Amino acid sequence: MALVTFNDILPQARQAGRAVGAFNIANYETAKAVMIAAEAEQQPVILQVYHRLMSDPYISALGAMMRNMAEKASVPVAVHLDHGATFEQVKLAIDCGFSSVMFDGSQLPFAENLEQTRSAAEYAHRHGVTIEGEIGHVPLNGTEAAVNIPLSTPEEAAAFAAETGVDALAVSIGTAHGYYREEPKIAVDFAQQISAVVAIPLVLHGGSGTPHEKVKAVIKNGFAKVNVATEFQHTFQLRLQDELQKQDGKFLPLDKLMLAPTDAAVKHLRTLIHMFSHP
Ligand code: 13P
Repeated sequence: MALVTFNDILPQARQAGRAVGAFNIANYETAKAVMIAAEAEQQPVILQVYHRLMSDPYISALGAMMRNMAEKASVPVAVHLDHGATFEQVKLAIDCGFSSVMFDGSQLPFAENLEQTRSAAEYAHRHGVTIEGEIGHVPLNGTEAAVNIPLSTPEEAAAFAAETGVDALAVSIGTAHGYYREEPKIAVDFAQQISAVVAIPLVLHGGSGTPHEKVKAVIKNGFAKVNVATEFQHTFQLRLQDELQKQDGKFLPLDKLMLAPTDAAVKHLRTLIHMFSHP
């Protein structure tokens, strides 16, 4: 099919009451697992990289690899920068061929976040690239901020979407990044109120470990992109650990060693993609 932007897949998903999975890849095998899973489910998908990887000396090669995978796919695929922290990272991602970027100013004061996101959005749109913004910061589990998560208000969300021109908006409704220490409190009522006043696709960050019935409920309320990193990468790692234990220190070519962990990640991803597309 093709490399696409958010505007080719997310408004359509929101309209249909489903979501597109956005999975954080870190290498060839994790990207391959996402592609195999999306092809098997025949659903659009988002390959995304966490902003930390933008300082990797070969990030342009990772970008080219993702683009190539997208161009060969039989389903629409967007290549996205996750949590872009600076304007320079946004520019670099665009230079590397990403079709979409996120500028995350959620830890800035609201007015500053709005101003910086608006500039990033103008730049991205001039280059034919879509952009995601964030308000109401989704924290990291285990941190102080994850204990009492400040939720986004519908008024802030509506103003931010209208004034920045972003194509998708991440809002805080109680999820956090990484595994939860206790059952998260997901504010489905807030999701409903926000989706009533924000027409663009909403984004759920911190998909790992979030109860599936809550994920499905927010998908039905305008959340058309669901981000998952920790849980499928962990499936990969645990299977790799098993394989290494089986090898007991003996050499196995890396391509062979990676087959079982990749396969385990594909199975995990297929379950998620199926759930997001049939909530
Ligand atoms: P998890 O690691 O909790 O799945 O969060 C992923 C995410 O939101 C990336 O932006």
